[in-house]
Amino acid sequence: MADPHDNLQVAMLLWLAFGHMIPYLELAKLMAGKGHRISFLSAPKNIDRLPKPTPDLTPLISFVKLRLPTVKHLLQGAEATNNKIQHLKKAYDMLQEPVAQFLESSDPDWIMYDFAPSVFFSIMTGAFLGFLGPAWALKGGDYRKTPEDFTKRPNWVLFPTSVAFRHFEIKKIFDAVTGNASGVTDLYRFGAGQESCDIIALRSSYEVEPEWLSLLKDIHTKPIFPIGLLPPRDLETRGEIDSWRSIKEWLDSQKKGTVVYVAYGSEAKPGKIELTEIALGLELSGLPFFWVLKTRLGSADTESVVLPDGFEERVRGRGVVWDSWVPQLKILAHDSVGGFLTHAGWSSVVEALSFERALILFTFLADQGLNARLLEERQIGYPIPRNESDGSVTRQSVAESLRLVMVEEKGRVYREKAKEMRPIFGDKNVQERYLNNLLNYLKEHRPVKHTKSKGITI
Ligand SMILES: *[C@@H]1O[C@H](CO)[C@@H](O)[C@H](O)[C@H]1NC(C)=O
Ligand SMILES: *[C@@H]1O[C@H](CO)[C@@H](O)[C@H](O)[C@H]1NC(C)=O
Repeated sequence: MADPHDNLQVAMLLWLAFGHMIPYLELAKLMAGKGHRISFLSAPKNIDRLPKPTPDLTPLISFVKLRLPTVKHLLQGAEATNNKIQHLKKAYDMLQEPVAQFLESSDPDWIMYDFAPSVFFSIMTGAFLGFLGPAWALKGGDYRKTPEDFTKRPNWVLFPTSVAFRHFEIKKIFDAVTGNASGVTDLYRFGAGQESCDIIALRSSYEVEPEWLSLLKDIHTKPIFPIGLLPPRDLETRGEIDSWRSIKEWLDSQKKGTVVYVAYGSEAKPGKIELTEIALGLELSGLPFFWVLKTRLGSADTESVVLPDGFEERVRGRGVVWDSWVPQLKILAHDSVGGFLTHAGWSSVVEALSFERALILFTFLADQGLNARLLEERQIGYPIPRNESDGSVTRQSVAESLRLVMVEEKGRVYREKAKEMRPIFGDKNVQERYLNNLLNYLKEHRPVKHTKSKGITI
């Protein structure tokens, strides 16, 4: 182990969506593996759900539970992201005091955070940050006002790219990103966070998006550190052994590379018509599939989704619909899986490409549209054709897209690209290099202790 005087103390302060925790924890483990101390601050429920680090890392990672203040409208115990998100943000802002107290007493060298207003560590791509742009554009400048404005390449992006939202994507999230029930908009938070930090780190690499990373340097005029893609290291061990046993049994019975894995994260739920078309498209494709279908988003969600009549009987044997948590990594790692119908959340993309799975893209929310464009223009993923104005799909387009990417000669490029991406997305040495690069910088630029922490506005 390195000289202890050389070791850093880093506090990680996390937004409450569970999806944000995993990449942070992954980075925490990598850093702790090198002897650095990490304090991991989040809501109690989220911390309880996290997989525990291995015993060798336990002494170096301390989990700090921040109790959420009560905010009107905030459902009791609803500490992970759901539709009450604006109120959660308000609660998050109210964490100021406990967080300030923690920082006062623990005096970390660096703070990493992703959402609040110094390392700004984004789990999103460079394309996403680059598209959102400089702080002035995020903090309420006049440059972008309408949903339409978000469907075009912004004027600070000087290279040709298709990275922009599509109409139906931005329409769905526009009110959320420009809404200000918590006092300021999401965009403002991003802008303020990137403006006040000392460096910006993001889950990315020069192999994936060099043009966006150099754009970020230009627009923010501060150091930009891609920290690598944080590929999964250990197949998940949490969750039920029994359910994995039966999933594995089914996967084992399928031919190599033939199964489509279908999952779109814990925050998205398709509408009734959408769901019907996806189901009938899967049926029509004739391909074997494993579909993780959450019928409800948490206990507050009363509208459970309903599959088309007779669907499950008709696809029995060929397709599985699974209504609870699955060990996604183990499924993606299984040889029978050839492709992944995904919402294009960045974690899912990284996981799939670490295992050479071809991508069929169907976006729902948030940054997913921009991730999808980035992948589409590199032919790393194929978007299911949709109606531009309402985002609807037909069963035919679902089936054709699946067959194109999984089996047809015309879609060979998508299968080959997925294979080419493995060394870029899944290589441990590449990951190590990016991590060391960041750590060296943090060590060299560590602030002198016992002065007040600099410019941290939480
Ligand atoms: C929030 O948005 C409303 C409507 O656009 C606006 O009138 C109000 O000033 C905004 N509040 C803040 C704090 O920005
Ligand atoms: C796309 O959706 C819009 C709005 O629902 C509808 O008016 C239009 O006819 C659709 N276009 C196609 C080609 O289906």
